[in-house]
Amino acid sequence: MRIPIARTVAELRAAVAAWRQNGLKVAVVPTMGALHEGHLSLVRAALEKVDRVIVTLFVNPKQFNSAADLAAYPRTEHEDAAKLAPLGAHILYVPDAADMYPEGFATTVSVNGVTEGLCGAYRPGHFDGVATVVAKLFLQTGADVAFFGEKDFQQLHVVRRLARDLDIPIEIVACPTVREEDGLAMSSRNARLSPSQRQAAPKLAAILFEAAARIAGGASVDATLDEARSAIAAAGYVRIEYLELRAEEDLAPMHMFDRPGRLLVAAWLGDTRLIDNVAMPARQGAITRAAA
Ligand code: PAJ
Repeated sequence: MRIPIARTVAELRAAVAAWRQNGLKVAVVPTMGALHEGHLSLVRAALEKVDRVIVTLFVNPKQFNSAADLAAYPRTEHEDAAKLAPLGAHILYVPDAADMYPEGFATTVSVNGVTEGLCGAYRPGHFDGVATVVAKLFLQTGADVAFFGEKDFQQLHVVRRLARDLDIPIEIVACPTVREEDGLAMSSRNARLSPSQRQAAPKLAAILFEAAARIAGGASVDATLDEARSAIAAAGYVRIEYLELRAEEDLAPMHMFDRPGRLLVAAWLGDTRLIDNVAMPARQGAITRAAA
């Protein structure tokens, strides 16, 4: 069993046009490849909701902050295609960087507001790169629905905002974060961790869940987050970029737990930057791993 691969917009559009003629509903799952269970959960969710699923694989140079990070990003197209085929995804779209950004390319999609703070503060230009490529992928695929992971929660907000603002007729579906057995959020960056770092890594999620539970139980937001920062440092993380409570709805900063929120964190373990977040529905005792 193999998955057909489209490498040009023309091939992709021809396939989508044929589906459309038959009245089929189409979804897109944008990825940068090196697929793990988190990505595959999005593909499965898409297959449940629509008739045809396009998975895109493009390591987008515009969203990387350093050339070294871009060069180090895993590229495993063959293995990715092998993982997608048995699920029943219909097309793997693997555009070329020179086709996506040909000479003279001069347009940037830049989303304000939701990009303030969090990853936006530490990765200049990152969300412009994400918004630009995601807008292109939406327009190239013409999909009815797109699937994104809550793992990248700020990105989810960026994508929702850009679709709404640019009147791109696409529904954005958010899927929960898939975790390893020990709680570590799945990420292609986890493969970079040394064995001892890998052992320490899940403490980040544990501390996050614990802090969320305390705040949900009535503890002060700022004091709880201060304690959690100390615990993250003690767990071996060398730098905490942010640990913040933000509103679920619009990512506004929250210092009181008075509406549904998200507790979001980014921290470095050695040379690896890990991010995670947990949902905090506005109800006491509602924070469990399952709720994340
Ligand atoms: P990538 O990091 O490959 O992630 C692709 C999609 O998989 C994103 O929607 C991301 O949130 C989701 N994902 C990653 N890890 C997950 C996990 N553990 N559980 C659930 N979903 C998970 O995000 C990107 O690529 C790029 O920025 C992209 C949107 C493709 C634009 O280039």
